[in-house]
Amino acid sequence: MKILLTGGAGFIGSNFVRYVLGAHRDVEVVNLDALTYAGNLENLSDVEKDPRYAFVKGDISRLEDVRAVFGEHRFDAVVNFAAESHVDRSLHLGAERFVLTNVLGTQILLDACREYRVPRFLQVSTDEVYGSLGATGRFTEDTPLAPNNPYSATKAAADFLVRAAHHSHGMDTVVTRCSNNFGPFQFPEKLIPLMIANALEDKPLPVYGDGLHVRDWIYVLDHCAAIDTVLRKGAPGEVYNIGGMYDVPNLDVVKKILAILKKPETLITFVKDRPGHDRRYAMEAVKIRRELGWQPARTFDEALRETIEWYLASKTWLNRVRSGEYVKYYERMYAGR
Ligand code: NAD
Ligand code: TYD
Repeated sequence: MKILLTGGAGFIGSNFVRYVLGAHRDVEVVNLDALTYAGNLENLSDVEKDPRYAFVKGDISRLEDVRAVFGEHRFDAVVNFAAESHVDRSLHLGAERFVLTNVLGTQILLDACREYRVPRFLQVSTDEVYGSLGATGRFTEDTPLAPNNPYSATKAAADFLVRAAHHSHGMDTVVTRCSNNFGPFQFPEKLIPLMIANALEDKPLPVYGDGLHVRDWIYVLDHCAAIDTVLRKGAPGEVYNIGGMYDVPNLDVVKKILAILKKPETLITFVKDRPGHDRRYAMEAVKIRRELGWQPARTFDEALRETIEWYLASKTWLNRVRSGEYVKYYERMYAGR
């Protein structure tokens, strides 16, 4: 199976490259990535010499980049990870790039799959397309899409384009909607790695609002196994929710990180809330378990410990990704908040 994987130099994509090459002998991966601030080839240094792996620098929102890669290879499947993925950036730094990559980029890939007759397209989506839950209930695949921020709006738009490609053109598409991931190689702009990085330096841990917003957490390698399962066994045109079934308030997660690192809770600093901050996400990931036999392999506590150990052992990686542009980003997001 020859897979075109987009966004493979990012957090989940790089974990997936390593995962599929390890899980299957008969797989080849071409990684098409624009190497934005979130893309880092260092995330893949251990697989770059594998003859089954190739990297191509290119932008999914540029037709010529996409056509070049489809012209050169014959793919059995496309897995689209490439995205602008951070809600805060979409709110504070502008959403235009989100529309270009997440919406236009997805359509360009779908068109190329149709033209080059690629047998399967998998769109990596998110639980955020469903919007926010009240105090009870969970998202199912039938929950209406109601995105509340520019990031989730562009991801929802992409989901609709994938749906349209299936319905209008009979393309074999599948969509996975996953909850919040954590694990090795996550860029420290997202909650868990940001809190680990700050705690390691005894810096304040900026918790938005009252810290009682609930997220459903999944270890990134469990997500990778789920995507691989859907890619191989999912039914055409279907959507599959993926979740860790571990939904807790942000404050609980931050306190667990501090406890593992033996740092004081006085580091927690409540800061001004994110505008339009979704209150609660919780996933019902029953369909993928019942129909495809997938379920998460690790508990949250085990995986959080492993993740923290990885960050402790990867200080060079962390310092490198936090130099340069990150310093300006952090200043802009958190100064005076
Ligand atoms: P990330 O921001 O770490 O990585 C994104 C990657 O895409 C980077 O390597 C970047 O260089 C690349 N990229 C960005 N724009 C591109 C373009 N125009 N052309 C080609 N490459 C481009 O993101 P992530 O956290 O690894 O998320 C991957 C996917 O999973 C995204 O589609 C995201 O919406 C989805 N997702 C993420 C989470 C999560 O918790 N992180 C949860 C559910 C779904
Ligand atoms: P994040 O990792 O940005 O993921 P998402 O917005 O996609 O769920 O944020 C997870 C939760 O943590 C979200 O409720 C916002 C909150 N948060 C903070 O409280 N402080 C922070 O510095 C960040 C980055 C997030």
